[in-house]
Order: sequence, then C-alpha cells, then structure tokens
Amino acid sequence: MYLGLDMGTSGLRALLVDGNGAPVGSAVRAYAPKHPHPGWSEQDPADWVAAVDGALGELAAAHPQAMSAVRGMGVSGHMHGATLLDAGGAVLRPCILWNDTRSAAEAAELDGAAAVRDLSGNIVFPGFTAPKLLWVARNEPDVFARTATVLLPAAYMNFHLTGERFADMSDSAGTAWLDVGARDWSARLLEVSGMRPDQMPRLVEGCETGGTLRPDLADRWGMSAGVIVVGGAGDNAASACGVGAMREGTGFVSLGTSGVVLTGRDGYAPLPESAVHTFCHAVPGQWYQMGVILAATDSLNWLSRVTGASPAELATELGDTLDGPGALRFMPYLSGERTPHNDSRIRAGFLNIDVGSSRRDMTRAVMEGVAFALCDCAEALKASGARLDSLLAIGGGAQSRYWVELIATVLDVPLALPDKGDFGAALGAARLAMVGAGAGTVDEIMTPPPVRETIAPNAALTGAYRDAYAAWREIYPAVRGLT
Ligand code: XUL
Repeated sequence: MYLGLDMGTSGLRALLVDGNGAPVGSAVRAYAPKHPHPGWSEQDPADWVAAVDGALGELAAAHPQAMSAVRGMGVSGHMHGATLLDAGGAVLRPCILWNDTRSAAEAAELDGAAAVRDLSGNIVFPGFTAPKLLWVARNEPDVFARTATVLLPAAYMNFHLTGERFADMSDSAGTAWLDVGARDWSARLLEVSGMRPDQMPRLVEGCETGGTLRPDLADRWGMSAGVIVVGGAGDNAASACGVGAMREGTGFVSLGTSGVVLTGRDGYAPLPESAVHTFCHAVPGQWYQMGVILAATDSLNWLSRVTGASPAELATELGDTLDGPGALRFMPYLSGERTPHNDSRIRAGFLNIDVGSSRRDMTRAVMEGVAFALCDCAEALKASGARLDSLLAIGGGAQSRYWVELIATVLDVPLALPDKGDFGAALGAARLAMVGAGAGTVDEIMTPPPVRETIAPNAALTGAYRDAYAAWREIYPAVRGLT
C-alpha cells in the first residue's frame, strides 16, 4: 500500500493505493487561501497540518488494515509558495502562495539581473519564490533575519511528516534558486536574492527517499514503523506522473481554472524568452516544459457569472459539433497572462461585438480564445524543440466535447480523454512513493491511464481555425499598453 497527498490551493486530498497503484480509498479536507490585501494570497501551514490529520484519520478509520500496510508516502504541492521557518522549525509567517503578486517589482528586478535566466532556465515570474524573499527582506526585516529555512508547501509537509528538511527537484525548479540544468542550488541565484545555501532544504529526486514517517504520526494513523517519505513533486510534475507524461513528446492539455500544455523532455532545453516554464521532472534525468495560461475554465466561469447561466448550460448551447470559428473574438487575460506574454497587467476583452451577437456567440468566442491561448503555449513549446506527439485532455473543461474537439483542431493534434478513475496529482505522488519503495521502475509504474475516446482534429475545419488563430494573434500586440 502507498499514500499520495495532493496539497491543492483549496484543499488536500489523500489517496491510498494498493501495490499495483489501484485506488483503495481517498479523503479530502478543504482549506482556503486568505487575501488580507489586494494581490496577496496566503495560507497558514497549520491548515495543511490539520487537513492531513483529518484526511489520514478518516482513511485510518475506513481502511485500518490497508493503512497498517502502507510502505511509502509522497506529497504533491502547489508550487512556488514560501514557508519560512526559524532555527527551531517554527513557522514565522503565513505561507506566501503561487498566486500572490505582491513581489512583482522584485521579480522584474531579479529577472533582469545578470545570468539569472541562464541559470534558472526561466523568467522570474511574480509568483516564484525568490522575489517573495526579497520582498520579506525589505518589508519584514525581523522575519527575514530569523529565517533559517525556506520550504515550499510540499517540502513543509515532508518536514511535518518526517522532521527533516528536504525538497524534490521539480518543485525546487520553480523557486528561481535552482540551477535547473544541473539539478542543484545555484550559489549565484541565491546570492542575487540575498539568500544563503544553508537556508535551502536538502535536495532529493521526487522518487527518492527523503526521510521516514515520525513514529507519533505513524501511531496516530495506524501505520507501521519505517514508512518512507519520498521527495514528492510540484503539482504539475505530480499530475504528469499520474498520467505517465514522462518522456519526450508525451503530455497533456489541462483545462482547469488555469490552462496548461505540458510535455516531458528527455533533455534540458530552456527557452525563457518564450515564457515557457522549463522545470526538472520528478524523476532523475528528466525535465518537463509547460506553457501556462491563467484563465481557462475561469474564463467560462466568468461568463457564467455575468450571464447567470451555469457553465454547463453555456456549453450545452454550443452543442457537441464544431461549426467553424465565429466572428467574435475573446482575449482570455482575466488575470493577466504568463505564456507567451509574461504580462501581469493585460486584461481580457471581446472584439467585434455586433448588435446581433448572442450569448451563444460569446460562449463560442470564450472557448475559442482559450483554445487560441493554449495554441500560443503549444507554439512556444515547439519553439524550444518540444514535441507534442501524444496528449491527454484533463481537467473540468474536458467534459465539454465541443471544447476538446476545438482545441484538438486548433492545435492540430488528437486529444485522448482518460477513462473515469484516478489519474491526478495524488496518484502521481503515490506513484513516486512506489518507485521510491522499489515496487517497480519509473517506466513500469508511470503508465498512461486507459483512454475512453480519442478526439481527432476536425480536418475540414483546421484551415478555418488556423486563419482565425492568425487573426486573433494580431490582437494582443495591438491592444497591450491600452487600458
Ligand atoms: C505552476 C503554478 C501552478 C501552481 C498551483 O507554475 O503556478 O500550477 O503550482 O497549482
């Protein structure tokens, strides 16, 4: 038996799997980020601790035998968050999360510093960890002076579970302190943001053992002595492990609140100027790249709020069959954009609203705008040499067949829909624990899920959508800077 913990932004999910990685049980606990000032997003690590206690307590009550047979655990966490500990391991302030934008100025400053992009392989985005510490140094100097260790959310959970300070490569790659090609902390990157190597956790691969579960916690949850805790992963790498997107050309399109096009890479090929993220994968010798858009289903949810129709109703009005691009265009930049623009100030907009435009036209434009923005990500990935050979469509938005066929057609790649079942970040984290405990190799364990259906590009409409995409691409350069 193995456990995978998925610490999301709005809750924690614990998944118990058997020796073959098949689900045995799961439990969820919710918590919420706090926004004490505009642009701030924080979480109290005590909420994560309470959530894991609740979820594993529930699993212990429901599956006592299986819990006592657990051999290994892995944690997936939301990335980039800064959890600050003093020398005794006490938390110094709430964790500053990935979607907190208070340190945008510090991010731009670090991004412009010599050698930073070369070593980290990435733009220093406002949500990354390094600029947060520069902000703390300048705005909370007392806290900064007492900071003995900075841990990412998953690494904080590792610390809670084992008492040891260790982090995996995939999550650490999102700090802007890691030399992502060398898979090691970079003295230069640390120095430029005023940090010291001794403030960093020990680095391990995601599937490598970092410590063992504390005996008091093992007792509390009915687990045996000696349960290993592996490095774990950042949530996107863990999701990739959950769907077997490890090697060159295998990946997914995720239609969640944000949208992601991710693909595994057999080598390190950064292209920071494209605003693609190039991160270590959670297993040795592998990397992954992804383009991230900040509002995918969030765009449809926004339209739902302003029209009063549920997202499902809006999607139903479009039917299941593609009928070619509309005249109305939508830029999905409701929260700014990462790939390819790295523009936190741009905002969304419609173009070409006609006196006859309907709600249905707006829904179609929103879905097309998201599909075109994902195509921007795919183009940026291809520019860095990545291949998009075999992609799954995952996330809540993939329930709309229309949207999936639209994206398949715009990207001109088939999209496979996984069968019902578990294939998310919690499974990925459990799979890392399986590899760490010696249950099998990466290739044996990180397999793709069974596919329900593969949706091919609509060949009759590919040309029309390529033309519409080309027209849509002209909008951003024309409107940036206008507010
Ligand atoms: C990745 C990113 C998000 C967070 C939260 O760069 O910011 O995916 O990990 O899910």
